[in-house]
Amino acid sequence: MKTLNLQPLLLLLVCLCHTSRSYSVDPGWAKKQADIFFCVDTSTSVYVLDYKIQLKFVADLVSRMDIGPSYTRVGVGLYSEDLYLHIPLNNTMSKDELISTIMAAPHHRGNGYISRGLSGMMTKGLTPTLRRPDVPHISVLFTDGDARDIQIAMDNANLARRQGIFLTTIAIGNRVNVARLGDYTSDPKPEFLYHVLDYSYLVSILPTVSKKLSEVEALASDQGVCGNNKFVDVVFVFDEAALGKKVSNKIKEFLQKITENLSLNSGKVRVGVMSKTCHQGDITLVQNLKREQLIENLKVDKGEEISYLIKITIRDSFTPENGARTGSLKRLVVFLDDYLREKREIFALLAKAKHRDQYEIFVINFGTNYDKGFIESLGTSKDHVIFLGSADELIIRKNEFTNIFCRDI
Ligand SMILES: *[C@@H]1O[C@H](CO)[C@@H](O)[C@H](O)[C@H]1NC(C)=O
Ligand SMILES: *[C@@H]1O[C@H](CO)[C@@H](O)[C@H](O)[C@H]1NC(C)=O
Repeated sequence: MKTLNLQPLLLLLVCLCHTSRSYSVDPGWAKKQADIFFCVDTSTSVYVLDYKIQLKFVADLVSRMDIGPSYTRVGVGLYSEDLYLHIPLNNTMSKDELISTIMAAPHHRGNGYISRGLSGMMTKGLTPTLRRPDVPHISVLFTDGDARDIQIAMDNANLARRQGIFLTTIAIGNRVNVARLGDYTSDPKPEFLYHVLDYSYLVSILPTVSKKLSEVEALASDQGVCGNNKFVDVVFVFDEAALGKKVSNKIKEFLQKITENLSLNSGKVRVGVMSKTCHQGDITLVQNLKREQLIENLKVDKGEEISYLIKITIRDSFTPENGARTGSLKRLVVFLDDYLREKREIFALLAKAKHRDQYEIFVINFGTNYDKGFIESLGTSKDHVIFLGSADELIIRKNEFTNIFCRDI
């Protein structure tokens, strides 16, 4: 990266000399309310001209925004060993002043710590007192390297997500670990994680980054709900055709209610629903990144045998294409009733799924005429099984389920 590449250098000089003083706001940014904090990589590894290109990229993004105290507010931090606050979020600068101040940012140097960049972003940039409620809070972090303290960076990223901050990462060069940077980035990754091979390519992603940032909507923070400590991919499985519409609707109502208790908006918990075969109408894990979307999808009415549903859930639902993540806890919640057939198939399928703790299995059984020992043998443990007289009890006994489900996450 330190080899001098003449072409980008020439381009850079041209760009800097032609800085225009009249900026127009992009349509997507017009009257957009957002609080955005840039974490610029000011570490030693960033070559002096590349540093200018990085600052120019931030300035160019800002030039497209509708800057003002009641629209988009921008703050800038420079991070290496620490995060140095360069422009506070509550500044009252005009767009011109903002741009020239960004371009004049000093180069602090030192080792680049993503963990400290993220921490400073929360304590000096998007602090709870400076952030406006009900507007999206977005952090845009640049890096040309890997995190030095991986776990701390991860913890800080999780903390930020819990506070409802969207984490955008712009990775530059070939020393970055893109997969790991994904852990410090919000979902969906294609919208929040960018990688260019050289600083000179930043300009090529400018329109996309600007557009995606302008589309971010305020997110309710998920503080205090369950699932903040682990990545959990859970699929609820029930047979709509066999249970009937009435019971199915009760289950959907129950799912809607428990979403309040799951850390969905933080990106930690993903929920899928498999209730019907042929896949039409199935809700995949990736479709429900936001609580509001899940609730919308549950309202769509969509009806085979539960064993078949379990089989295809295990086969198809937990694939990356369907939104499951590597390293996440994989959980299945299966709804059963007294009219259970194909017991042997179901037992075999679930036993295989539980093998080596691949999947954790929860069972909710409706009815009074059941084989207790058999149903209990289906769950990961007896504690994973709940018996309800009928689906009518789902809502009133909801906390029993959340208590079990939320125990270790
Ligand atoms: C911005 O917020 C800081 C910290 O709360 C405060 O000290 C400072 O006076 C504020 N600046 C403006 C311009 O309001
Ligand atoms: C689930 O969420 C509801 C609504 O926010 C709350 O009242 C309830 O205490 C939560 N239950 C658990 C077990 O966290």
